[in-house]
Amino acid sequence: MTATNKVALVTGAGSGIGLATARRLLEHGYSVVLTGRRQAPLDALADEARQRGADALAVACDVSDAAGVAALFDAIRQRYGRLDVLFNNAGRGGPPVEIDELSVEDWRAVVDINLTGVFLCTRAAFGLMKTQTPRGGRIINNGSISAHAPRPNSIAYTSTKHAITGLTKSVSLDGRKYDICCGQIDIGNAATEMAERMARGVPQANGEIAIEPLMDVELVADAVLHMANLPLSANVQFMTIMASKMPFVGRG
Ligand SMILES: NC(=O)c1ccc[n+]([C@@H]2O[C@H](COP(=O)([O-])OP(=O)(O)OC[C@H]3O[C@@H](n4cnc5c(N)ncnc54)[C@H](OP(=O)(O)O)[C@@H]3O)[C@@H](O)[C@H]2O)c1
Repeated sequence: MTATNKVALVTGAGSGIGLATARRLLEHGYSVVLTGRRQAPLDALADEARQRGADALAVACDVSDAAGVAALFDAIRQRYGRLDVLFNNAGRGGPPVEIDELSVEDWRAVVDINLTGVFLCTRAAFGLMKTQTPRGGRIINNGSISAHAPRPNSIAYTSTKHAITGLTKSVSLDGRKYDICCGQIDIGNAATEMAERMARGVPQANGEIAIEPLMDVELVADAVLHMANLPLSANVQFMTIMASKMPFVGRG
C-alpha cells in the first residue's frame, strides 16, 4: 500500500475498466469517488474498500445529466473539498448498423455519454481544480483504438472517441496556467463485458468475422495508476495500450 492523500473520481466505476482502476487507486491509498448509473455495484466496491481500510464514496450519477454531475461535484466538495484525479471512463457503443440505419436517438445517446458526459465531468473538475489549494490536478480521458481507426459500422462510437482526442488536447492546453494536466489512454481489447464479443468473433474491414485477442483489464488499471501518480510537472499526453496482436498496426 502506498499512502497518499489524493482524491480521485472514476466514472463507470461499477464494472470493467472503471472497476479495476478504482480498485487499483484504492489499493494505492487514494480516496476514490465511484460513480455510474447503477448504485448497487458502486456500493459493493465501496463496502469492499471499507473492509480493507480504504476510503471510497459511492454516488450514482448519469454523466450525461448536467444536474446530476453538478450534484456529484457538490458531494465531492462537501466530503473532500478537492479533487486530484478525474478518470473519465464511462462510455458505451452504438448499435452496429450502417450509417443510414442509425437513428438520430441512438446517435445522440452515444454522443451524450461519450462526449457530453466527459465534457460535463471535465468542466466541473476544471472549476474545482483551478480554485483548490494546493491548486491543480489531473484529468485522464478514456479514448480507444477507435480514437485512431474505426471498426465497421461504428460511426457514433468512432466519432465520439476521435472527439475525445480534441477535448484532451484542449484541456491539456487550457489547463497549463492552472497546473491542470490532461492525458488520454487509448485501450484496445481489454477483457471486459463490453469487449467479450471480440472472443466470439467480430466483423473485420474485409467483411470477415474474426476472433481477436484480448488482454487482462488489470494491465489497464496499472497504466492509469502510473498516469495518476505522476507529479503535475509531468504528463502522459497519450498512451496506447492494446492486445499486442489485435488488428490495428499493419492495417489488419
Ligand atoms: N474494453 C475495451 O477493450 C475498451 C477499448 C477501448 C475503449 N474502452 C472504453 O473504456 C470505457 C469502459 O469500458 P468497459 O470496457 O469497462 O465497459 P463496461 O464494463 O461496459 O463499462 C462502462 C461503464 O460506464 C458506465 N456508464 C455507462 N453509461 C453511463 C452514464 N450515462 N453515466 C455514468 N456511467 C455510465 C457503466 O455503468 P452503469 O451502466 O451503471 O451506468 C459501466 O460501469 C468506455 O469508455 C469504453 O469506450 C474500452
